[in-house]
Amino acid sequence: MKIIICKNYEEVSREAFKLVKEVLQKDRPILGLATGSSPVGLYKKMIADHHRNGTSYQSVITFNLDEYIGLPQKHEQSYYSFMHENLFDGIDIKEENTHIPFGENKEGIEEECLRYEEELKQYEIDVQILGIGSDGHIAFNEPGTPFDSLTHVVKLEGQTRKDNARFFDDNIHLVPTHAITQGLESIMRAKKIVLIATGENKADAVYAMIRGEINIDCPASILRKHEDVTILLDEAAAKRLEINETNE
Ligand code: GLP
Repeated sequence: MKIIICKNYEEVSREAFKLVKEVLQKDRPILGLATGSSPVGLYKKMIADHHRNGTSYQSVITFNLDEYIGLPQKHEQSYYSFMHENLFDGIDIKEENTHIPFGENKEGIEEECLRYEEELKQYEIDVQILGIGSDGHIAFNEPGTPFDSLTHVVKLEGQTRKDNARFFDDNIHLVPTHAITQGLESIMRAKKIVLIATGENKADAVYAMIRGEINIDCPASILRKHEDVTILLDEAAAKRLEINETNE
């Protein structure tokens, strides 16, 4: 696990962009994408690079991690909308090459889990971008999720709904109660993983991921079993680690 501590969010985003840009040199890059505020700086850099340097996404394929259940696909807080607003509309990616679990209908959601996992399995993700929840979740794999989980339906924990209420007029009751998410095993199949965490409210989760026991109480701790993971932190998120820059 490589841990890089940066001065600030801008530097974290720059480091993440460098890693993504390497993968974009391939003929048919396959990107694993995340939502949340953590990757937004990276996505801005991808859009700027597309405009400035003509980097094309015509042959790029993407798979997202998760989606809320029960929100219309085009609801302003769906992850479908998030990805279009923050990345897809700013680059020349083909809509048919982007994949996001379809969570609009509660009926048939178990079939959607199987369908998504099957589709995902046909590809090998070159780089998977991740954020981390303040309770150590990755994608929507909450504490207690088995390490061998595949795409599944999850009930969102109170802390996660509280954290995400900021996107729903600060009203926790508007935050969906369930989501569809890639499982931990699905995520671990990626060739390379880049996790972004910034801000003091991530410091405990970051500490548990890197220094705690590897177990289901901190889903992100599974990443220590992967052979190519880079953790990009700002100083606030790294504050409990007491290291500068290290290769573990
Ligand atoms: C949500 C997403 C995760 C994300 C996490 C942290 O729960 N499902 O994929 O990593 O929030 O979000 P943020 O980056 O906004 O702190």
